[in-house]
Amino acid sequence: MGVEVKIIKQLTDNYCYIIYSNETKDALIVDPAEPNPILEYLNSENLLLKGILVTHHHSDHTQGVLEIKNKLNVNVYSPNSKIEGTTNLLMDKQTLDFEFIKFEIISTPGHTLDHIVFFCNKEKILFSGDTLFYYGCGRVFEGTYEIMLKSLNKLKLLPDNTRVYCGHEYSYKNLEFILDELVYWHDRGAVKQKIREMIKKRGSSMPFELGHQKDWNPFLNCDNPKYKQVIADFPKNEGKISKEASEIEYFTFIRDKRNEF
Ligand SMILES: [Fe+2]
Repeated sequence: MGVEVKIIKQLTDNYCYIIYSNETKDALIVDPAEPNPILEYLNSENLLLKGILVTHHHSDHTQGVLEIKNKLNVNVYSPNSKIEGTTNLLMDKQTLDFEFIKFEIISTPGHTLDHIVFFCNKEKILFSGDTLFYYGCGRVFEGTYEIMLKSLNKLKLLPDNTRVYCGHEYSYKNLEFILDELVYWHDRGAVKQKIREMIKKRGSSMPFELGHQKDWNPFLNCDNPKYKQVIADFPKNEGKISKEASEIEYFTFIRDKRNEF
């Protein structure tokens, strides 16, 4: 039996994920903010929590940690000793083995300096926190744009059939940004409408496929001549960026534009 992932909505647009085995009932959670719906689900499915995983120190990813840790007496695996409740400090390239699932830790600084992501090669799943979003990437709060780009490029090396679960439901806004500011699409009104309805119907756009994003996420295509040409040719961008600009120049251009969008 495979590993299941339950999506738990948190706060305004955050996601916590419950990863569990149907067979052993062992479970892990990623980035808890609001304990109640998480504890309710664990209870209703008779899941045995084995640990709390944290991607970075922002409070919308950590504020539920202590309450759950204290109630269920579990370890907290985080990249930063300042995250309250941390019992196990994680580092780049470390592996975490919970028997029903094994994770490789990948350090992805940029959004914050402590940011890590959790990748399981066997199941081909990635918990990307606020580093990689569907059609977007996290804001660069603590690192430099160079550092963030390097982190995103690390994720491009993971297999195409990786299913990605990220920290926020920003998909619609990210797509709207691409269609309004970067890429000409003849029926973009219809595309936006379709996507908005799809997300509403499914309740979430998670997970998404990494291979698809390697082709379509602008932040993963800053070195792609075709994508650069399309962005440079977009009427709003005329004279602002050249198709000859470097990868980091493209990343900076797109990230700055997205910050203002
Ligand atoms: Fe964050």
